[in-house]
Amino acid sequence: VNTDAWLDDIHAQLRDLAARSLGRSLREVSHDGRFVKVAGRRLLNLASNDYLALSQHPALAQAVAKAAHELGTGAGASRLVAGHMPLHAEVERRFAQFKHAQAALICPTGYMANLAAVSSLAGEGDLICLDKLNHASLIDAARASGATVRVYPHGDLSKLDRLLSRGDAQKRKLIVTDSVFSMDGDTADLHALCDLADQHDAILLVDEAHGSGVLGSSGAGLAELQNVSERVDVVISTASKALGSLGGIITSKAAVIDLIVNRGRAFIFTTGVPPTQAAAINAALDVVRDEPWRRQRVLELSASLRAELLQRNWQLPPTPVPTPIVPLITGSAESALALAAHLSDQGFFAPAIRPPTVAPGAARVRLSLRADIEPAEIQSLLAALDGWRGRDDRNN
Ligand SMILES: Cc1ncc(COP(=O)(O)O)c(C=O)c1O
Repeated sequence: VNTDAWLDDIHAQLRDLAARSLGRSLREVSHDGRFVKVAGRRLLNLASNDYLALSQHPALAQAVAKAAHELGTGAGASRLVAGHMPLHAEVERRFAQFKHAQAALICPTGYMANLAAVSSLAGEGDLICLDKLNHASLIDAARASGATVRVYPHGDLSKLDRLLSRGDAQKRKLIVTDSVFSMDGDTADLHALCDLADQHDAILLVDEAHGSGVLGSSGAGLAELQNVSERVDVVISTASKALGSLGGIITSKAAVIDLIVNRGRAFIFTTGVPPTQAAAINAALDVVRDEPWRRQRVLELSASLRAELLQRNWQLPPTPVPTPIVPLITGSAESALALAAHLSDQGFFAPAIRPPTVAPGAARVRLSLRADIEPAEIQSLLAALDGWRGRDDRNN
């Protein structure tokens, strides 16, 4: 490669992103309970998906330490070669139970679980229908599968119905949706999606990344809350959010899991999750069972924050049930950056979310709540937001 020209091109791309306020860079964030330390300042963490505050729970830390001492820190091979350890089997058995499913399979991340599941279930000649606001990992998985991909406007099930009707010639039909939409914090209507799947003989895959551990009577997710656990064909969960560690778990019928073990390249051609990670997930499942106050608390915080924001005329995406995600949509990337900077000045860490993570013109600050936030901290946050509005008015 002609290094100069190559690097000139890269610098031009980076300059272009920066000029459009779309540049991204890593910043070091030290975690300390519900606070983070960023550039020497201690801020309330409103930016993590650690909804139940489990990533620093002593039970998880102890389980990880024990697994590390007894079993080591790596699985050493792909699960199908020499990497399938008893702790993996235990996570999968327990997760199947937790999700009211026949069987489960753990992949290293939720992203990879989506890739493995979607590309095992649909391929060339098949049809995959995606909600417009689905997570990027589902979009990437659908594209990678080689199937025909159609996108319906967010929550527009009549459009989905039409797409599925038109897809009659396709061999298989797969409907793919988030349960809790990661940037809007609203929920899918799984009942209606199950009905459509039945009518069109389509497979329904639901990504419960943000519902697992938080929604439903036992914390199993939106499918449990909406009483459709038996009707959803494939569920993806991740341990990276409410469960406080990392790992993507597919739950479904035993035959589906067998197929993914045989066909899921993102499962087959990667090393099994370390035993330490499997131990953390098992411990997290214990805490979810034994400490239901955590999910109740985070949902109460969300309901009261949403009510206060609506009273103050913030436009929030409507949702039938509160979830830990509360987006403050500002519009332009610049305005989202300015709000994030204002919140940071006031002691809150909630970075701006900009395109391409969200649509152009829908940049936002995404607040995500945790079970260990104090109600008084929500009041201070509201005061900071009132200050922002006041500042806006003075500028106009
Ligand atoms: C809806 C959704 N699915 C999947 C993922 C990927 O999960 P993981 O972080 O475990 O790869 C995320 C977030 O990262 C997500 O928000």
